[in-house]
Amino acid sequence: MWRITWLLILATTYWQRGHTKGDESPQSPGHVSVVIVGGTGDLAKKYLWQGFFHLYATQVGKGYTFSFYGGGLSPTDKGTPLLFEILKELKCPSELTAERCALVKEQFLRLSQYLQLKTAEDYEKLSQHIQQQLKQEDMVEAGRLFYLSIPAFAYADVAAKINSTCRPPAGAWFRVVLEKPFGHDFESAHLLATQLAGFLKEEEMYRIDHYLGKEVVAQILAFRKKNNNLLEPIWNRHHIERIEIVLKETLDCKGRIQFYDQYGVIRDVLQNHLTEVLTLLLMSIPANISSSEEVLKNKLKVFSSLGHLERNSVVIGQYQKYTEEVQEELNKTKDYFSRTPTFAGVAIFADNPQYDGIPIFMTSGKMLDERVGYARILFKNDIFCIQDSSNVNCKPKQIVFYLGHGGLDYPAILVSKNVFKPSLVNSAWKEVTEHKDISVLGLPLSDYYIQTPAVPREAYYVLINKVFHGRKDSFISADNLLASWAFWTPLLESLVQAFPRPYPGGTANGDLLNFQLRGREVAYVNEAVVNVIQQGQDENFQVMQGKFRGAEMVSAWAKELVERLASDLQSAAEEAVQNEGQFHLALSGGSSPIALFLQLALHHYTFPWHHTHVWLADERCVPPTDAGSNFRTIHDQLLQHVRIPYFNIHPMPVQLNQRLCVEEDGGALLYEKEINQLVNASSFHYVLLGVGQDGHTASLFQDGKLDETGERLVTLTESPVKPHQRMSLTFTAINKARKVGVLVMGKRKHELVTQLSRIKGESAKYPITRVHPTEGGLMWYIDYDALLG
Ligand code: BG6
Repeated sequence: MWRITWLLILATTYWQRGHTKGDESPQSPGHVSVVIVGGTGDLAKKYLWQGFFHLYATQVGKGYTFSFYGGGLSPTDKGTPLLFEILKELKCPSELTAERCALVKEQFLRLSQYLQLKTAEDYEKLSQHIQQQLKQEDMVEAGRLFYLSIPAFAYADVAAKINSTCRPPAGAWFRVVLEKPFGHDFESAHLLATQLAGFLKEEEMYRIDHYLGKEVVAQILAFRKKNNNLLEPIWNRHHIERIEIVLKETLDCKGRIQFYDQYGVIRDVLQNHLTEVLTLLLMSIPANISSSEEVLKNKLKVFSSLGHLERNSVVIGQYQKYTEEVQEELNKTKDYFSRTPTFAGVAIFADNPQYDGIPIFMTSGKMLDERVGYARILFKNDIFCIQDSSNVNCKPKQIVFYLGHGGLDYPAILVSKNVFKPSLVNSAWKEVTEHKDISVLGLPLSDYYIQTPAVPREAYYVLINKVFHGRKDSFISADNLLASWAFWTPLLESLVQAFPRPYPGGTANGDLLNFQLRGREVAYVNEAVVNVIQQGQDENFQVMQGKFRGAEMVSAWAKELVERLASDLQSAAEEAVQNEGQFHLALSGGSSPIALFLQLALHHYTFPWHHTHVWLADERCVPPTDAGSNFRTIHDQLLQHVRIPYFNIHPMPVQLNQRLCVEEDGGALLYEKEINQLVNASSFHYVLLGVGQDGHTASLFQDGKLDETGERLVTLTESPVKPHQRMSLTFTAINKARKVGVLVMGKRKHELVTQLSRIKGESAKYPITRVHPTEGGLMWYIDYDALLG
């Protein structure tokens, strides 16, 4: 969360520096030079030339003239026939008659040529050629469009060459189009963005995500805006049950393993295409949806509300033949296997008042049973049907943004008839009234209002057209890109050692990949399948009970240990609430309890939060908004996820009179008074402690004047590490508690645990040894890493 917030600040600065509104004003006519670098490659062949041909056909005669260059590394005599083969196959846009098309195509072929673009001199020559042509034909230059259809590692080099040789003179525009992948994770994306920013201005770059050119995706915002009066009241957590963003594919990865094996499905599809769809669904609708600036700004805001993804937010799979394909294409031996996932299912949550608690399932995979892409908003249905269950009101209430393929086989927006009758997004869309006899996501087509584009358009054409007109709303800005990587990178890092579940592919997958929500996490529904390789430490799930320093100890691997501590805490809470109506819990800072907080927030729905008071065992003298504040951590990881009354939350008053921990402001005394007032006999029901590697606990450090506190419950202390000033419960307060739990986790603590086990009684060197609650309820929770090293 912090990383994202920091990023957004950084990114907004990028935005302000890089963006000018001027780019969207109507542009002057004149001559346009289009250069496809990588002009005989796969993408160019399949989509780009077709897109530019379509652009030419619609723009020629509107004041523009064009030249097209296909650039490649091969010499001209090799590249020219290749390009000709591609151009020969171009198809006519449906709006042209055959006769007109033949003419336009002939012109297009004459205006297109192959060029070798390898060295800086080649680019220099290209620029000279453009200038000469303009001069000879006495033309005014409108702009230059470079489409980099090349591997991403070559972007910086080509951008440098174009920048130094091919910029048009003042007055003409200069646009450079780039395709994903834009990096591999946050760091690499940041590096690439910085490198490119050295050569190109942000407003000159058009980062393509072809999903933004798909007609249904391109109209999500328009649909939401057009139907806002009916949608707005139900577009929230009170009405939406879940959201699904899905791209299922039947193809495998053969032929592109070099690329795919380094990326995997999350980087290939989820981080970009499906995340774009997600932002369009969740963003607030800008007042002007045609303003790129407003659209991109609102999109960016979505990222700051997305909840952090953990290892257990995802399930991953890999089709079985993948290993063979990898061995073959990467020249690996037969015992080599890759952990790259070809399937992923993720649950995302947006932590804001509008969407809080709505699970957003995002999933994609290769070798599944069908090819289909859609985003589905499923609404809660509060109607209870006694009879006539075939009535539409008894059926799922949903809006489906159907991207194409699948049973329906055309792009459409479908609104089930029990939601409302929507308006058409614009005049280029039409209502579908004749229905095939099929069902889409549980409903026959006749139960939907369906709208579709009157004339279907290729995504690349839509985007090329937008680049041509300088419309940036359908492209990825540097700040959006970095925010998306900041969101996905922690999950990707958590998966480095993970083993995907193998699946056979196609219909044979059966229910193997079905996954379900568990709290805020996901798991495969069918648990029977064992992973290819078991990780050593998972083999032993045992929780051990024993003694440590004469007190009770529980030990287990981290996950099981945290589960045990959470359920012990819940039992303590229930007992206290039953006996006294309240549970007073004092929590420490540090990183160890975070796993506990999440466990409580995500799995302990019956915890009596309503009767629980949360106190702090210690605090750093920093504002509560600071990343280092213990209260901030407890707030972010626990309090904001549970229903606890505000007046039961007791942060330490480290900031008074606009200053931090000044003795005469009396913050420690104030907290002590609050404890005395609210906690029976000032005896907390439970104090949760950790131990630092130096043996400190709460903020009670060795050499602190710990003996001078007498009967005081709260004191200011000094830490040897920054931030030095702290506030802490004293040993008096801690030892008065009915129960004290000490959580010790990680290999880093092994040395300390060994030392502590050897010391009898108290030791001035290790403040933790002075914790011995008078009621005797001390329990150590030590994980195997800390215990065994
Ligand atoms: C590409 C991915 O970006 O998108 C492919 O690299 C994926 O792996 C493709 O198949 C999906 O696009 P579409 O338009 O076929 O849904």
